[in-house]
Amino acid sequence: MNKARKAEIARLIESGDWLHVAGSRRNIKEHDYYKVVSDLLGLDEVQQLKDFRHHIVTNRFQHSLNVSYYNYRLCRLLRLDAESAARAGLLHDLYDYDTKHYTSGVHSLRHSAYHPMVALERAEAIVPINDRERDMIVKHMWPVTPARPKYAETYVLTFVDKYCAVIEFLLPQPKRLRTWVKKRRSDRKERRREKALMRTISV
Ligand SMILES: [Fe+2]
Ligand SMILES: [Fe+2]
Repeated sequence: MNKARKAEIARLIESGDWLHVAGSRRNIKEHDYYKVVSDLLGLDEVQQLKDFRHHIVTNRFQHSLNVSYYNYRLCRLLRLDAESAARAGLLHDLYDYDTKHYTSGVHSLRHSAYHPMVALERAEAIVPINDRERDMIVKHMWPVTPARPKYAETYVLTFVDKYCAVIEFLLPQPKRLRTWVKKRRSDRKERRREKALMRTISV
């Protein structure tokens, strides 16, 4: 993609005419996925997720959108309930506090067990939630939390959530990755050269 196109997309994202997810260059407003979640995207509670940093390099809104989109795509591919998957994906982290301010001493639960319950409570307060969506939201941390998913869609979401956390962390840093790979290669070459030199000296 050339510089002008990148700048144009950045402008469209800024204006709200373009929605993107990590790992894809398409405008997801043009995808059939968008129709399934457009009502949720307009809610203040969902928009407020932009105020919270998430997984170090992104915000909670972008992470939830990533999970929602890929959960929809994967569940549709597997002929599961893709609509519930998209909606629960968008709401699975709907908690309204900064994760680093959570202190387990104050609550009896660890954050991994606590935040899905807050997300579910808040989601149920703003939209009707079906059984599948409830299971997906409240058990999305499995197997970190012990309650086993009841539905196939929940297993998919637990995988997609972790997959998104990884790509969110790695994709914005391709330069850093390339530098790391180059350094590893040159270190290996250097070690081989040293070994060869040692062999010629010892002969
Ligand atoms: Fe979460
Ligand atoms: Fe998440």
